[in-house]
Amino acid sequence: MVKVAVLGAAGGIGQPLSLLLKSHPQVTELNLYDIVNSPGVAADLSHICTKAKVTGYKGQENLDAALAGCDIVVIPAGIPRKPGMTRDDLFNINAGIVKGLAEGIAKNCPKAFTCIISNPVNSTVPICAEVFKKAGTYDPKRLFGVTLLDIVRSSTFVSEAKGMNPAEAKVTVIGGHSGVTIVPLLSQLKGVTFSQEEVEALTHRIQFGGDEVVKAKDGAGSATLSMAYAAARFVDSLIEGAFMKKPVVECAYVESPLAADDGCAYFASAVELGPAGAEKILPIGPLSDYEQGLYKACVEQLKANIAKGVNFVNQA
Ligand code: NAD
Ligand code: LMR
Repeated sequence: MVKVAVLGAAGGIGQPLSLLLKSHPQVTELNLYDIVNSPGVAADLSHICTKAKVTGYKGQENLDAALAGCDIVVIPAGIPRKPGMTRDDLFNINAGIVKGLAEGIAKNCPKAFTCIISNPVNSTVPICAEVFKKAGTYDPKRLFGVTLLDIVRSSTFVSEAKGMNPAEAKVTVIGGHSGVTIVPLLSQLKGVTFSQEEVEALTHRIQFGGDEVVKAKDGAGSATLSMAYAAARFVDSLIEGAFMKKPVVECAYVESPLAADDGCAYFASAVELGPAGAEKILPIGPLSDYEQGLYKACVEQLKANIAKGVNFVNQA
């Protein structure tokens, strides 16, 4: 019995994500919001014979209605990268989009679990948190940056390289969600060993997997289908942990003490999801020398990304 809103539902991620959520057995209401085309996407999905009642909401004037009473809000709204761009290059447009949507959540469903996909995630999560703080609704356990695509990619790339079942190649990825802030902990994967050359090649591929897709799409956007898969899996885990009370561990970018001493108030790590949301932030665990170097590079960039998001809201 979970009511979910997708904001940016008519986009490249929004449409397949909405399709996957329409198939989720616990989702009973699915509100699809966008500034274009959402009624069409909703009409199409509404013919699928699953339980969720689908409603389309188009335009700013319908945002309040789209969010009213929602338990989970997923945000893939905003522009994607083109070749040659970094995720940070999206900040100028996407920061304002996420800020406006966060204000809508604070007003209409302040207790919702908010899952942010819009890039740059390293900055858009702090933006959302600052909006919620200003509104007096912030609960750090209920705000997530969705980094699960990095875990999905890690499972794929590692299992391909080592001839494993992807389900058994569960790599913890910490840090943030862009380039060197993505830190896969391959040394913690049990039952498999890597040469240093393999570790470096896999790490690079996981850190820059998004660029592979941007390049292949050649100007037509970034990852959409694999992202929809990853986001649907994250929402499924959240529903299991928060609403079905079966604690689940997934990686996510949340407010966290793990790298606070290095200037990062937000950090991705394995997190236990339960009725309150991000109930437990699991420790980073032992790092190899190579991973310690990755961590250092990560926090340098991540703290600047976080500050940029925080300043965006507070200087506006
Ligand atoms: P897209 O352009 O295909 O879709 C974005 C949608 O957002 C469009 O339908 C657009 O109309 C809508 N939109 C724009 N402004 C809006 C607003 N104010 N309110 C509601 N909707 C609005 O882009 P996409 O490929 O779906 O990517 C969306 C975002 O997700 C990008 O920022 C991209 O970088 C990011 N992304 C994140 C990850 C991740 O791992 N977190 C992975 C892939 C993509
Ligand atoms: C990804 O990792 O695929 C996304 O963050 C989109 C991008 O810009 O690469």
